[in-house]
Amino acid sequence: MPVRLIVGAQWGDEGKGKIVDLLSDDADYVVRYQGGPNAGHTVVVNGETTILHLIPSGILHPNVRCVIGNGVVINLEVFFRELDKLAEKNISWQGRMRVSERAHLILPAHRAMEEAEEKGPGAVGTTLRGIGPAYRDKMARIGVTIGEFLHRNRFLEALERQRTWRERTVPVLPKKAVDPESVEAELAPFRERIASMVGDTGLELYRAAREGKRILLEGAQGTMLDVDHGTYPYVTSSSATAGGGATGSGLPPRFINEVMGVTKAYTTRVGLGPFPTEMLGTEGAALRDQGAEYGVTTGRPRRCGWLDGLALRHAARVNGLDKLAVTKLDVLSGWPMLKIATAYKVSGCDLVTEFPGRMDLLERAEPLYEEFPGWTENISNARAWNDLPETARNYLKRVQEIADVPIGLVSVGSARDQTIAL
Ligand code: GDP
Ligand code: IMO
Ligand code: MG
Repeated sequence: MPVRLIVGAQWGDEGKGKIVDLLSDDADYVVRYQGGPNAGHTVVVNGETTILHLIPSGILHPNVRCVIGNGVVINLEVFFRELDKLAEKNISWQGRMRVSERAHLILPAHRAMEEAEEKGPGAVGTTLRGIGPAYRDKMARIGVTIGEFLHRNRFLEALERQRTWRERTVPVLPKKAVDPESVEAELAPFRERIASMVGDTGLELYRAAREGKRILLEGAQGTMLDVDHGTYPYVTSSSATAGGGATGSGLPPRFINEVMGVTKAYTTRVGLGPFPTEMLGTEGAALRDQGAEYGVTTGRPRRCGWLDGLALRHAARVNGLDKLAVTKLDVLSGWPMLKIATAYKVSGCDLVTEFPGRMDLLERAEPLYEEFPGWTENISNARAWNDLPETARNYLKRVQEIADVPIGLVSVGSARDQTIAL
């Protein structure tokens, strides 16, 4: 199975970092293919927590080569801060960190634009990392790539091109954010440091796959935040679904042999936008407490709710999921009755059983739930299917049926070994 892809099946924060770290044991390469420092992936090994925003979650495995693919947008300061933190922990990344020359930079102007955009109507509740504006410039064909950044004069020319384009279109940006010399002065210290990591990573990955090397593609965000298949406009600005794994890494789509979707045993979402199974009030707060549901990147409290079977089936379809990894099952211990939404009631419509593409329907959706008896046991020490209480097994069997995808992994804690492989 040389190329495997891990994708979030919900609204992000499903525990992709944990699963990617775990599967990196069987990988030669781990590749981020979209998103940027809006991601926050947590890996817990031997009681030590590592949070990664841009660096692939395979970095803790000393023999894994880590690649930031062409589909990612990079903030150089965040990138090097992360590498420095790893070095402080004696995690050596030298010689095994590769960055695509085609990846785009997040520039000071992108963050400044987003600050202004998120203050008024049309706000999405973004992470304020400049993600949307950076991808917008890429699509508008005025973005700046890492390849251009390597050559000071090319970089200044690209910034000048961008500034004159902006002068025609966006009149209110601070001078420091668009003045080529100022931006160059801010980013110049990173040029030499990144140069040896930059290359044609698409070609490198293609050759590696042809040689039978094992490649793990690490999705960021999740299906419901995908710019095409998510709850638009409350989405991120990249292709967070499996399709992005090909365009964002440069690997041909048919090289991807297996797609695993990661889902929590319940649902969370950060930021604005529809969330039909959201639990408001004390129930939602209790789930947030038990699951420690606070954003890794922004610290915002995550909105919490029951598992949404329609959203999960949608994820299974648009990603072509072969397997599911169900995380945070341990968090549901102690709830007497668990619920999974299997249909929505929408006023004026027939019963809705597939996740709607129309936001006006989604906003009016009232979930219809199936109920399941819970369990009281602490399951964080379970390591095999039969270690789980029967009620937990029944809950998982129903998740599998609703998604119509077999479960391959169940996670019962944040640590690498708190996992049941099926
Ligand atoms: P990602 O963005 O998908 O990588 O997920 P995050 O790291 O943002 O959020 C997942 C959180 O849940 C992290 O704090 C993980 O350490 C934690 N986590 C992952 N799997 C489990 C699990 O099975 N049980 C519990 N209790 N925590 C988990
Ligand atoms: P990981 O990879 C959860 C959400 C933001 C906001 C929307 C758009 O850790 O799962 P953006 O800054 O991307 O323009 O914000 O997307 N969002 C995430 N939510 N996990 C993430 O990443 C997210 N990345 C972005 O909260 O609603
Ligand atoms: Mg996260």
